[in-house]
Amino acid sequence: MEQNITEPKKRIFSGVQPSGNITLGNYLGAIKNWVSLQDDYECIFAMMDLHSITVRQTPAELRKRTMELLALYIACGIDPEKSTLFVQSHNSAHAELAWVLNCYTYMGELQRMTQFKDKSSRHADNINAGLFTYPVLMASDILLYQTELVPVGKDQMQHIEICRDVAQRFNGVYGDVFKIPEGLLVKSGAKVMSLTEPTKKMSKSDPNPKAFISMMDDFNVIAKKIKSAVTDSEGVIEYRPDDEAKAGINNLLTIMAAMTNSTPEAVAKEFEGQGYGTFKGAVADAVVEAIRPIREEYDRIIKDKAYLQDICKNGAEASHRIAQRTLKKVYKKVGFIVD
Ligand code: TRP
Repeated sequence: MEQNITEPKKRIFSGVQPSGNITLGNYLGAIKNWVSLQDDYECIFAMMDLHSITVRQTPAELRKRTMELLALYIACGIDPEKSTLFVQSHNSAHAELAWVLNCYTYMGELQRMTQFKDKSSRHADNINAGLFTYPVLMASDILLYQTELVPVGKDQMQHIEICRDVAQRFNGVYGDVFKIPEGLLVKSGAKVMSLTEPTKKMSKSDPNPKAFISMMDDFNVIAKKIKSAVTDSEGVIEYRPDDEAKAGINNLLTIMAAMTNSTPEAVAKEFEGQGYGTFKGAVADAVVEAIRPIREEYDRIIKDKAYLQDICKNGAEASHRIAQRTLKKVYKKVGFIVD
């Protein structure tokens, strides 16, 4: 990650949807890692509200959660002085580029997306076109900023791949318009699993609240959820990532490792021979202690509406400046009249 000081910093783009509760999975899989990237890269992080409406939202809730997400980003250590923070819908270039790229993306490519298959089975009454073209909007988010690296969890890698494919296809026709981005998989905690069904990803939209830890949960609720996490009856603390029967323990080891900047293997060694109860207690303590300072910061920031609005405004302006350069280029290439 070291860079020559004379070279311009590489650009990073990423974001989280403001739908549902921001979970421990979002924090460990995404936000925590962004904090450490801020010094070495030019970072742009957004609240992805356009993506959120691919599933039905309560308008007032969506608005509220978008601001909460911003406050949470900052509480987690994203510094608005170093990084650009903005709300996706404040920059119309995202929707505009998405339209153009829709015309350079094949139905077949989109049909293969596992997130689409997943979400359409969970929302069978609302399989809308937005859900289908979601990856094209995501590609637009990334390509507008000539992004080099996109830090994401494993589950988003397929979307990075389609983004690269579409960008390469477009460049193949019109010349080098887009920088081809790369996904940056975070080392640990990349994928935190459900506490009740540990073979599934921890999801903020899980109907069972015991399945996920929200960054906004009360501390005793967090501890309780971890202590009642599904494990197995073998009673052995061992990290076996390929053994489904061990999914619950693997998950707790992964969480503990991410919390303590260790590895699941090392954590397993440390707790070797101990009971699940003791281990879960230790994981619960580690998680609560990590979340406590973030929550204190969050409670302070969320009250300061003027400060948050100011960040949104500055972020929207900064993002607009960069995005317009790419959008203008694209419009010109495809044959629109550009002044
Ligand atoms: N699809 C991402 C997720 O659900 C969120 C997202 C939207 C995103 N646009 C993006 C992530 C662009 C990285 C870059 O987690």
